[in-house]
Amino acid sequence: MKKITPETVRADFNDPVTVVAYARAAHFLGLWKSETALIERFFPEKSAPLLEAGCGAGRATLGLWDLGYRNLTAFDFAEELVDQALHLAAERGVDGIRFLHADATALGKCHVLRDTRFEGALFLFNGLMQIPGREHRRRALREIGSRCVPGAPLLITTHDRDDSRAERALWRLEAGRWERGEQDPRLVEFGDRYFSDDNGGRTFMHLPTRVEILEDLAATGWSPVFDSMRRDLARESKAVKDFSDECRFWVAVRSE
Ligand SMILES: C[S@@+](CC[C@H](N)C(=O)[O-])C[C@H]1O[C@@H](n2cnc3c(N)ncnc32)[C@H](O)[C@@H]1O
Repeated sequence: MKKITPETVRADFNDPVTVVAYARAAHFLGLWKSETALIERFFPEKSAPLLEAGCGAGRATLGLWDLGYRNLTAFDFAEELVDQALHLAAERGVDGIRFLHADATALGKCHVLRDTRFEGALFLFNGLMQIPGREHRRRALREIGSRCVPGAPLLITTHDRDDSRAERALWRLEAGRWERGEQDPRLVEFGDRYFSDDNGGRTFMHLPTRVEILEDLAATGWSPVFDSMRRDLARESKAVKDFSDECRFWVAVRSE
């Protein structure tokens, strides 16, 4: 059985079932309370050029616009989702957002992103963790960092494998499977999951530990300044919890 590649992930995000789910979230859900709180705290300048990686169908992008951010560039490597974001922006009469098709691990291939410098970046709803392979995730962090000015904040979310006793117990069982070579052969690294949701959409996700993310940020020129589980930041609605499970928010700043 073949290992999961970025192409697998891109195909899964371009799948109509997944496109509908993200388009619905962009139309009806918007920014979570926790996202809004951190965006307003760490991105105080509404006219600063901001880069949103993995924008999907524009859920957070349009939310940022509604909060008053007016210099937004958003990209995703799933072209069907970028199309949805463009449609939603047009439907809402928003014509000031730059939506691009680009891969976070190869931003130099996008001529617009090659020459632009941003004063902040976001990769929300665990998008970074949907890149298979730690080295590729680090490459994306470096690529985004190289498009940001020193001191620029980066906001991301991840899961946290160590967050609860139940999770730690499940991951101990999974560690046993890896030791015996009985893990899902499609997975790239320990911590990966590849699963189908109730509607048949497929999701690849790497679930890191907190230490792993601290190492990845340090190795790629980002200094962490804040992290917290979502439940400690805001009480989210049922709709948000149904759309997205618990996560850890991270803010790091671009080193000099
Ligand atoms: C969980 S979705 C979040 C979408 C949107 N930000 C939201 O919150 O609704 C993660 C997004 O990251 C995108 N993504 C994953 N890997 C990427 C990569 N290497 N380059 C660009 N986008 C990527 C996916 O296509 C997907 O749209």
